[in-house]
Amino acid sequence: MSTSTSLPSGQAPDPASVDKERRNALIVTCAVGGVGVAAVAAPFLASLAPSERAKAAGAPVEVDLSSIAAGDKLVVEWRGLPVWILRRTPEMLQSIKKVDGEVADPKSQRTQYPTPEYAQNEFRSRKPEYLIAVGICTHLGCSPAGPFGPNQNSQLGADQGFLCPCHGSTFDLAGRVFKNKPAPDNLPVPPHKYLSDTLVLIGDDSNA
Ligand code: FES
Repeated sequence: MSTSTSLPSGQAPDPASVDKERRNALIVTCAVGGVGVAAVAAPFLASLAPSERAKAAGAPVEVDLSSIAAGDKLVVEWRGLPVWILRRTPEMLQSIKKVDGEVADPKSQRTQYPTPEYAQNEFRSRKPEYLIAVGICTHLGCSPAGPFGPNQNSQLGADQGFLCPCHGSTFDLAGRVFKNKPAPDNLPVPPHKYLSDTLVLIGDDSNA
């Protein structure tokens, strides 16, 4: 896949546009790679006709939340992407409130990676207890590590959150990027809806 841009001779490329193209290419690469893993990891897909297989690979994923302990993060795959489900404790939610003034887009109003309307709030969620976000950094597509508690990571210091090891972007426990970091946006929130208190459907928010 080429990511080059044709420009009139003598004109330097706009770094922001080159950066955006690289980022998009990496995220597409990551998504395609993930779909490959999904096909290997799910043998039942092999027995389906091609169109049924494609449908199953993009289908919404139902997740039972009852097995996630408070403070733990579960990772599920949807469309080849790692989707995090973090069950936040009251203390974790407090840590998010504390950094409202330190994050770049506290209410998720930026549009590069649009946040669904129901997650355009401080906790970026339908239910404060659960963060549901795609675990891919919006800079160049690395996978952030965490969650880290207070003073568990030198770059986060007393704050809690996630660290992208590639270029040092840090995110709070709502997936909001801290100010003055390379990542241009918060971690994406996938479409989702609750089917019951303990069941969530990732990839579909219709009629919710
Ligand atoms: S990929 Fe560069 S900071 Fe995450």
